[in-house]
Amino acid sequence: MESWFGKNLINWYLKNKRELPWRDHKDAYKIWLSEIILQQTQVAQGLSYYLKFTGKYPDVKNLAKASEDEVLKLWQGLGYYSRARNLLSTARHINEQFDGIFPTRYDDIRSLKGIGDYTAAAIASFAYDLPYAVLDGNVYRLLSRVFGINTPIDTSTAKKEFTALAAELLDKKNPAIYNQAIMEFGSQYCKPVNPDCENCIFKSRCLAFKTGEVSHLPVKAKKTKIRNRFFNYIVLVDKNKAILLQRRQANDIWQGLYEFCLLETETETRLKTLMETKQFRHLCGVNFDLLHLSAPYKHILSHQHLFARFYVIKVPFVFKTDQPICTLNTMSKFAFPRLIEKFLNDCDLKELF
Ligand code: ADE
Repeated sequence: MESWFGKNLINWYLKNKRELPWRDHKDAYKIWLSEIILQQTQVAQGLSYYLKFTGKYPDVKNLAKASEDEVLKLWQGLGYYSRARNLLSTARHINEQFDGIFPTRYDDIRSLKGIGDYTAAAIASFAYDLPYAVLDGNVYRLLSRVFGINTPIDTSTAKKEFTALAAELLDKKNPAIYNQAIMEFGSQYCKPVNPDCENCIFKSRCLAFKTGEVSHLPVKAKKTKIRNRFFNYIVLVDKNKAILLQRRQANDIWQGLYEFCLLETETETRLKTLMETKQFRHLCGVNFDLLHLSAPYKHILSHQHLFARFYVIKVPFVFKTDQPICTLNTMSKFAFPRLIEKFLNDCDLKELF
């Protein structure tokens, strides 16, 4: 259907769109990379990651050959590292099952690990002009306002309702440009807070504007439950200035990334109490030197608030362990979570030992 909605949207887009490198081509692999990166961050920050990834891995075959450590290192700072691991395993899968050529059928694209309804529609429409409508947070917001829909968007009823509406509105002759336009308008104009409704192209049609409901839409049923966690990091340095690391395991945040020795506690805990624990004594013995105690850090993830402190501790022996070890010179080779990067930027370890 060529609707008033689609026409207005595309006209607006052609006048207002940002020039972005993933909009210059129809390379499904690069579009996939851009979409996965943009699920994680804003365009401004995502750009440099997109350029780094496409520069280092210009096609699926190159990415498929990478090691997980390399990919995590390049992803460092974006958070939600399972996305990076899925990128790699999907690249390997495409290499093996599709001869390294990105699949062209919607169902094949949707079946890939890490690719949900939104990403499959984005790739299928942007790369191959297939008529699948994108539905992400920006589109939910725009549609809920223009069409005055107050079904809570985090319910399966809303998913069905909005999917059907999005499909009906899609300009099926121009799905690529229509989808870019709806995303761009949703993110750049119909913003979550204080949108400029007076000058909006949908001012005369928008039901939320007519009824004064803009700031109440979209509706969400549940509040996100936040879990507080308390991370006490022991930055353990041995006699030879080696630093003990550990790799994070499955079923928790930051799987596959590296960190310092972690003593997690149920509540905020002082050094005196930590020192009484078995793990602390096992790590540090009794003859240790506390070189530095960091300020407290609060690090916010989507469902968790992390409260962290870093204790830089020197021990008078040499590590004999199977755990990973780094030095100040080799540290940059390891992929760390952003929380640890922040600490490393604030604290000049070189000054300490
Ligand atoms: N966010 C997600 N996908 C996008 C795209 N293709 N262009 C701009 N912002 C986006």
